[in-house]
Amino acid sequence: MKSSLTYEQLKQAAEKFGTPLYVYHAEKIVSQYQNLVTHFDMKQTRFFYACKALTNIHILQVIKNAGCPIDCSSINEVKLALHVGFEPKNILYTSNSVSFDEICEAVALGINVNIDSLSNLEKFGAKYGNTYAVGVRIRPNIMAGGNLKISTGHDKSKFGIPLIQFNELKTIQEKFQLKINTLHIHTGSEIKEVSVFLQSAAVFESILGEFPSVQVLDFGGGFKVPYTPNEKGTDIALLGSEVNKVMKKMSEKFGRPLIAWFEPGKYLVSEAGYFISQVNVLKEQGEITFAGINTGLNHLIRPMFYDAYHHIDNISHPDQAKKNYAVVGNICETDTFAWDRPIPTISEGDFLVFYNAGAYGYEMSSNYNARYKPAQVLFEKEEAKLISRADDFADLLRLQIPLNP
Ligand code: LLP
Repeated sequence: MKSSLTYEQLKQAAEKFGTPLYVYHAEKIVSQYQNLVTHFDMKQTRFFYACKALTNIHILQVIKNAGCPIDCSSINEVKLALHVGFEPKNILYTSNSVSFDEICEAVALGINVNIDSLSNLEKFGAKYGNTYAVGVRIRPNIMAGGNLKISTGHDKSKFGIPLIQFNELKTIQEKFQLKINTLHIHTGSEIKEVSVFLQSAAVFESILGEFPSVQVLDFGGGFKVPYTPNEKGTDIALLGSEVNKVMKKMSEKFGRPLIAWFEPGKYLVSEAGYFISQVNVLKEQGEITFAGINTGLNHLIRPMFYDAYHHIDNISHPDQAKKNYAVVGNICETDTFAWDRPIPTISEGDFLVFYNAGAYGYEMSSNYNARYKPAQVLFEKEEAKLISRADDFADLLRLQIPLNP
C-alpha cells in the first residue's frame, strides 16, 4: 500500500504518544487539494472540504492555509470553522433535518446555506423573503456510492427535496420571491464513476431554466479514494476535464456565468490518516489466529458499520513472512476489523497500522465500554505534534452529575 509516512515515522509516533493513536500527514492533505486544483478550471470551480470527515482544528487550519473553503453539516462545525478563522463567505452549511433555528443561526453568521426540505424553505421564505440568497438541495433519484448506507441520492433517501416535488419548490420560490443562488446534489460517498457527476449535471441542466438567479451548481462530495491495494479511485483528471466542459457548455447555454462547487471529505483526508494499535493477545483457535488489539469499534467503526476494508500492516515487523489473521478489537461486541487477512507475522506487542483512517475514523469514535478516545497527532514538515490528547478517567466523569457524598 502506498504510504506517505514511513514505517519508522509511524512507529516513533506510536512509541512517543502511545497507542491507540490517530496520525495525520499535513502535506498529503495539501497535495490532495492541489491535485483537484490542477485538474479543474478554478475560474469556474470551488472545493469546500466536507469537515464531517475530520474536524480537529489543526486539520482545519491545514485546509484553510491550503486555501480550501469548508463545508459543514452542523452549526457546531460552522462554529469550529469560524474559530479557525475561515471567512463566512468560505463556509458552506448543507443541513439536513435540522431545526429552523439552526438555519437562522447560520444566516446570522452570514455563511452560505443549502436547505434540504420544503418545510424549512417555506419558513425561510416567510422570515427572509429575498433578502438572503439561499441554496436548495435536490434529491435527484440517482443511485450511487460504495454501499446503501452511504448512498444519498436514491428515491428512498431522506436527503434533499425530491425532484417530483419540483412544483411545490417553485411555488414556495415564487410566493416569497426567494433568491435561490445554488442548486445542490450529493448522491453518495465513494463514487468512482465520473458519469454519476455528469448525471447530476444533466439534472441541473433540466431545471436551471426555472431558476434565473442560480449561479452555483453544487455537486456535493463523494470522490472515491482507493482503500484496497489494487483499487482505483475516481479519475480526477477525467472528472476535471468533463466537468470543465459541461460547466462551460451550461454557462453558454443559459447565458450566465455558472460555477461548480464540490464538497470532498474522504478525498482530502482519508489517505492522510493512519490509525495505530498494539497487539494485546494472540489466540490460536484451530485454523484461525486471532490478533486481539488494544482498540475496537469504539475507535474505528467503519469495518463493522459499512463492511469497509482498511488495509492493515505490521509496522513493528514489516518484513516477516505473511500469515492470515483475524484482527479483532477489545470491545464487548464482535468487533472484527478483518478476517483471513495476510499480515507480516505478528508477535504480541507489535504495532499494527490501519490505512485510510483520516476520514470518518476518529470523527465517528466514541467512549463505548467506558474506554478512552485515542490521541491524535499531526505530522507537518517531518515534525509530529499532538493535536488532541487521549481521554483520561476524569473525562469519563466530566459530564456526569457527581453522586451525593
Ligand atoms: N457533502 C455532503 C452533503 C455529504 O453528505 C457528504 C458526506 C459529503 C459532502 C462528503 O462526502 P465524502 O467526499 O467524504 O465521501 N461515514 C461514512 C461516509 C458518510 C458520508 C456522509 N456524507 C463512511 O465512513 O464511509
